Amino acid sequence: MELRKALGSDMPTIDEIALKYDLDSNDTKANQFIVAIEDKNIVGFGRLLPHTGCIELGTIGVVEEHRGKGIAKRIVEELLKTAKKMGHKKIYLTTLIPSYFEKLGFCSLDEAPPDCMIRKKEWCEGCTKVGCTVMKMDI
Ligand SMILES: CC(C)(COP(=O)(O)OP(=O)(O)OC[C@H]1O[C@@H](n2cnc3c(N)ncnc32)[C@H](O)[C@@H]1OP(=O)(O)O)[C@@H](O)C(=O)NCCC(=O)NCCS
Repeated sequence: MELRKALGSDMPTIDEIALKYDLDSNDTKANQFIVAIEDKNIVGFGRLLPHTGCIELGTIGVVEEHRGKGIAKRIVEELLKTAKKMGHKKIYLTTLIPSYFEKLGFCSLDEAPPDCMIRKKEWCEGCTKVGCTVMKMDI
C-alpha cells in the first residue's frame, strides 16, 4: 500500500466513496487529501481542512474489502505529520466513531468546540445524525 497526495483526477472517486459512506464531502479539494493506493486503485483517503485558527482531520474512509489492515491508521498518522509540519500544535476532528479515534490518541473535548470548528450552517442542513463528537489531539 502506498500513500500519496491526491490528484484532481482522484476527486470523482473520492467524492463517490465519501458519498457512499456518508462522510463529510463539503468543499472537497484535491490539495486537502492523501490517498492510499493498492494495485493502482484508491482504497482509502483522508484530508486536512485548514480553518481560520485551527486545523481539522476529516473525511477518513477505507473501502470495505481493505478494512482492518491498518490503512486508516497510516492515513491518519501521515496527515498528523503534515499538520505538524504546517506548524500546528493540535488538531481537531468531528466523528460518529470516537472509540476508533481514541485508539489513535484523540480525546473528546471537555470544553465547547472552538469557534473555528463550528460548522457552517449549510453543512449540517438535512443531516439527521446525532451524537457527533468533537475530538482533539496535541501533536
Ligand atoms: C473507520 C474506518 C476508516 C477504519 O478503517 P480501517 O483501515 O479498517 O482501520 P484500521 O485498520 O486502521 O483499524 C482497524 C481497527 O478499527 C476498528 N474499527 C473499525 N471501524 C470501527 C468503528 N466504526 N468504530 C470503532 N472502531 C472501529 C476495528 O475494529 C479495528 O480494531 P483493532 O485494531 O482493535 O482490531 C473504516 O472502517 C471506514 O471507512 N468506515 C466508514 C467511514 C467512517 O466511518 N469513517 C470515519 C469518519 S470520521
